Amino acid sequence: MLEYAVLYHSETGNTAKIASAIFSQLPGKSKDLMQINLSEPIPEAAVYFVGFSVNRGTCCMEVADLLSELHEKKVSLFATCGANPIPEYIKEVESKVKVWLDDDNEYCGFFLCQGRMQAKARDRWEGIRNKENARHIDAMLRNFEEAKLHPSTEDLKNAIEFAKARI
Ligand SMILES: Cc1cc2nc3c(=O)[nH]c(=O)nc-3n(C[C@H](O)[C@H](O)[C@H](O)COP(=O)(O)O)c2cc1C
Repeated sequence: MLEYAVLYHSETGNTAKIASAIFSQLPGKSKDLMQINLSEPIPEAAVYFVGFSVNRGTCCMEVADLLSELHEKKVSLFATCGANPIPEYIKEVESKVKVWLDDDNEYCGFFLCQGRMQAKARDRWEGIRNKENARHIDAMLRNFEEAKLHPSTEDLKNAIEFAKARI
């Protein structure tokens, strides 16, 4: 059995960057870094870091399935999202994803930072912008620009600190 497994789902590479940063700081050689692929067996480990990109406020089914397979493990979650990750949003996402984890695990916490969004999100907002929604859409567009800068060096540093406190 491995000491550590870092398993993640990442469509466009943001969460993969966090996963690699966490993995690089795990001590020793008894560790694995893997994209979640349900057709492959989950590596057996004592400590898991499970990552995902926030999709409609939660994780994708692949991550939910994987989490529900874990028993009697130490499990930490990490993710990236397009929105500004204010504490309320972090709690909201965490509570939706944590439900997949059985109580026999030791849940160790959640790290969330912003991640660059796909250009089609900006195109969609620009396409629906009108007089009534301009304020709201402009805020979304400003956030899109901010998200382009993430995950930043600071985000990676914070993710590493989060992981180090859990090993
Ligand atoms: C289909 C879809 C749904 C998304 N839903 C959300 C969401 O609900 N909240 C959010 O903040 N970001 C959302 N995003 C943005 C992604 O979470 C964000 O860009 C993330 O960093 C992508 O990570 P990845 O590169 O690891 O795939 C969504 C993106 C896509 C493509």
